[in-house]
Amino acid sequence: MWKTSPLLLVLTIFATYVLSHPWTGVANEASYQSRSVSVIKPKVFIISLFGAEGAVWYHIPEFNLLARNITVPGLSRSFPDVHCTADGSVCQVVTGSAEINAALSMASLLHSPSFNLTNTYFLIAGIAGISPKLGTLGSVTFARYAVQVGLQYEIDAREIPANFPTGYIPQGSSAPWEYPRSIYGTEVYEVNDALRKIAVTFAKNATLNDTAAAQAYRAYYATSSVYAMGAAPPSVVECDTATSDNFWSGALLADAFENTTTLFTNGTGVYCTTQQEDNAVLAALLRGALRGAVQFSRVIVMRTGSDFDRPYDGQSAADNLFAAGAGFGPALKNVYLAGVKVVQGIVEGWDGTFKQGVQPTNYVGDISWSLPGNPDFGP
Ligand SMILES: *[C@@H]1O[C@H](CO)[C@@H](O)[C@H](O)[C@H]1NC(C)=O
Ligand SMILES: *[C@@H]1O[C@H](CO)[C@@H](O)[C@H](O)[C@H]1NC(C)=O
Ligand SMILES: *[C@@H]1O[C@H](CO)[C@@H](O)[C@H](O)[C@H]1NC(C)=O
Ligand SMILES: *[C@@H]1O[C@H](CO)[C@@H](O)[C@H](O)[C@H]1NC(C)=O
Ligand SMILES: *[C@@H]1O[C@H](CO)[C@@H](O)[C@H](O)[C@H]1NC(C)=O
Ligand SMILES: *[C@@H]1O[C@H](CO)[C@@H](O)[C@H](O)[C@H]1NC(C)=O
Repeated sequence: MWKTSPLLLVLTIFATYVLSHPWTGVANEASYQSRSVSVIKPKVFIISLFGAEGAVWYHIPEFNLLARNITVPGLSRSFPDVHCTADGSVCQVVTGSAEINAALSMASLLHSPSFNLTNTYFLIAGIAGISPKLGTLGSVTFARYAVQVGLQYEIDAREIPANFPTGYIPQGSSAPWEYPRSIYGTEVYEVNDALRKIAVTFAKNATLNDTAAAQAYRAYYATSSVYAMGAAPPSVVECDTATSDNFWSGALLADAFENTTTLFTNGTGVYCTTQQEDNAVLAALLRGALRGAVQFSRVIVMRTGSDFDRPYDGQSAADNLFAAGAGFGPALKNVYLAGVKVVQGIVEGWDGTFKQGVQPTNYVGDISWSLPGNPDFGP
């Protein structure tokens, strides 16, 4: 038997420990390198927010997202797997609904050693509430700004000062119309407008779904000329999105958050959709960008109109909220019908355009100006 020196023994035990515990810091790098052949480098990552939104992408003719399942620790217990095509060019995560689920799932995904996301395009592909001023049930919208309208002070509307039009007041300010003075950093994200315009071109190539039930419901909005787009057939629209954990309904809150969007984006943002995740997803992506894991200029925010944010003339806010949901089906279908055009457009145009990236002409980043550029909004 050969003689073992104490030092060699210690080193041997250490090396054995490290190699058998790939989750330790030291071994992580090594195992990442050794498994780099199997690291997936998606061209497009579809971000779905809940189960039905995720399912519209399965069993489609264009590609098979169920060819590869990758369990990622930290995802929602309901959606523990990322789904990918066999070649890994297209992947999808389902985050779970609302801001906390979305932020945690995205943060976990961005830290997963199974993926290299440095060149990946992210397509937020979800349904939303929609303003009848700019769209309708089944409309497909692409946002430049996402505004966290729920992150404000609130006084119950029955107790507001006589001169306040709403109970929502930007944090750190003392009136609804004053710019916020207390900024947390997640209030506003601006994405690549040049990329957005390309995505819109791709999506306009889709034949959107519509149904008799959606047509009948949107016809109620025809009595108001302000809601002309609400009464018209669905189309592809460029307009911005509002994030709030609070699923609200009503003309007054819609008006208030329309104002919040304008205020927080220094007059550039155009409010049209409402949802519960986008600022959370974008917050995770921005932090990923700050450590070089992703490029924030490769993010597309697509939302389709599932229900109206406010009632038609003569309807109550409650009846709008509890309405039967005539837009849910077309909204889900159009997530896929428009979204797949965007995915295919990026994958097919990879070598010519998308591999090197679409140069943004606008500021791309957050309200705290964490990324370089010339912001047109923020304090
Ligand atoms: C991936 O998971 C789905 C269910 O989420 C399943 O239908 C499919 O067969 C799985 N694919 C593989 C390759 O195991
Ligand atoms: C990820 O991919 C990029 C581009 O191909 C490459 O430069 C980078 O080294 C990769 N990152 C890791 C951690 O392997
Ligand atoms: C539109 O779709 C057709 C057929 O699917 C395709 O050949 C064409 O390149 C697409 N155009 C755009 C702008 O995506
Ligand atoms: C929309 O989808 C529904 C449900 O799949 C289908 O019955 C209907 O024919 C579709 N309409 C159009 C215009 O594609
Ligand atoms: C929104 O802003 C307009 C214009 O400043 C104002 O007249 C209206 O009262 C505001 N509405 C709400 C609900 O804050
Ligand atoms: C945005 O508006 C606020 C409030 O008027 C102002 O303080 C800030 O300088 C503006 N930001 C930019 C980038 O113009």
